[in-house]
Amino acid sequence: MIHQFDTVIIGSGLAGLRAAIEAAKYGSVAVLTKLFPTRSHSTSAQGGIGAALGNEEPDSPEWHLYDTVKGSDYLGDQDAIEIMCEDAIRTIVELEHLGVPFSRTTEGKIAQRRFGGHTRNFGEAPVRRACYSADRTGHAVLSALYEQCKPLGINFFSEFHVLDIVIENNKCHGVIALQIENGEIHVFNAKSTLVASGGYGKVFKTTSNAFASTGDCLSILFNAGLPLEDMEFFQFHPTGLYGLGILITEGVRGEGGVLINVQSERFMERYAPAIKDLAPRDMASRAIMTEIKEGRGIDGKDYVHLDLTRIPNQVLSERFPEITTFCKIYMGIDPSEKPIPVLPTAHYAMGGIPTDADGRVLNDEKAGVIKGLYAAGECACVSVHGANRLGCNSLLDTVVFGRRAGIAMAGENKNAERGNIHRDAIDNAASLIDLTIKRKGDQRIGDVRSELQTDMMDLCSVFRNEQGLKELVSKISIIEDKAEHITLKDKSKIFNTELLDAIEFGHLINLSKVIASSALQREESRGAHFRDDFPQRDDADWLKHTFAFKKERVVEFKHKPVKITKFQPEERKY
Ligand code: FUM
Repeated sequence: MIHQFDTVIIGSGLAGLRAAIEAAKYGSVAVLTKLFPTRSHSTSAQGGIGAALGNEEPDSPEWHLYDTVKGSDYLGDQDAIEIMCEDAIRTIVELEHLGVPFSRTTEGKIAQRRFGGHTRNFGEAPVRRACYSADRTGHAVLSALYEQCKPLGINFFSEFHVLDIVIENNKCHGVIALQIENGEIHVFNAKSTLVASGGYGKVFKTTSNAFASTGDCLSILFNAGLPLEDMEFFQFHPTGLYGLGILITEGVRGEGGVLINVQSERFMERYAPAIKDLAPRDMASRAIMTEIKEGRGIDGKDYVHLDLTRIPNQVLSERFPEITTFCKIYMGIDPSEKPIPVLPTAHYAMGGIPTDADGRVLNDEKAGVIKGLYAAGECACVSVHGANRLGCNSLLDTVVFGRRAGIAMAGENKNAERGNIHRDAIDNAASLIDLTIKRKGDQRIGDVRSELQTDMMDLCSVFRNEQGLKELVSKISIIEDKAEHITLKDKSKIFNTELLDAIEFGHLINLSKVIASSALQREESRGAHFRDDFPQRDDADWLKHTFAFKKERVVEFKHKPVKITKFQPEERKY
């Protein structure tokens, strides 16, 4: 089936929906999702969205800017960060007007709480900057935006799996997708296409990410010859439920929760004396792993405790109902009574599809763009998070840059021709499906995928080194060969989730290779990328973005300078 739209948006999380609302004011919009819109991973964002409203104590966008630059370990582009922090206050007011039920102070203002790396007066002490809706902030924002989409006549295509994003002669023509329900191929010709498909945490064994976070569109664009930026930087959130990786929001530490080791020591006091448990995530995750490595895990095991018993019961039940339920259901622990076992969990990709501040996708490290192609949200790299994202800047990024991309697409559409996807591209997509279904061999997806996720976890997570990364690159190559021998049991085209798993697995392999190779080439430690063999940050050689390109079976690199405006790199102390 062939569809014609002005704008096609892949992904129905916050970035996709915020862009859709803007683009729909000027033309027809289709939103494709492999799930149902309100099941997008944005819905699981817990702790908040950052904005210097100053509702609870003095704050300023400039302090927000400073914290974000410092949090990024100086790799974030400061012009883009300034746009985001300056636009944050307007964004929160707008979200409130769109119907987001933010939690309130006793005077009825939007309540704000502390979060990692949010400080007043350029690092002096923690500040309350995170606006929240209990611990269901993503869910609240996503529901409000979805409600706004309906009256605007936005067309939703739920359970459509993207097979290709078609680019010819430096112009994007639209998208080819599989309707999961019946295996039909659909073609979406568009004037502009936005990729807002979220992250790819499923490359790791332990992750807070949803099952759908497999990075399909990043991998498709990489295969098409486009670069991916800063893929070595993958954030581990310090507090995943032990053994499961389910997120326990940093907001609990903002309200008085603390990390403790086997000696009942509040160990973050040693690692970040000024802001302790509210240190940025890269530092807190390394601290936890160091405690465990040095034998101070609980009962000699590989976890530490997150103690929430210090938080008043009323605060815990009113502001953290979701994580309280998670602890009870998944761990059998009431967090008001006993500490919870936690371990860092793969949480957020700082790297992604390079874009300018209006979401235009860059085709090289020199700021060339592809006509009609945009990206926003976690799949994109603007870059506002640099080497390490601060909590609550992710939701902010999605709505600020989603809106900007929506406006830019509407502007470009005025004078653009609609794309026209040719028969060859459609036939290629159809034969990918047929070949995957018919493939014969002795491998099963589940086994090979676990192998990849375990290798990524063991060799490319919080700590990395040359030997491990080289081993990982060759293991991924072996896994790539094994994937050629995966057989599907389900040979049908009707709701064939095994087929979708196989397609997604190809993308996971592709992205793992880019992450591991990018980590190997960056011979320094910065933010979430910590190399045991190069433990220092090296601004002389590495204050630059990585651009990874596909070259047959290997990855090639180019680099781009970081945009520095107000804040020169300094030693990062907390
Ligand atoms: O800890 C959290 O609630 C996560 C927030 C975020 O990733 O921004």
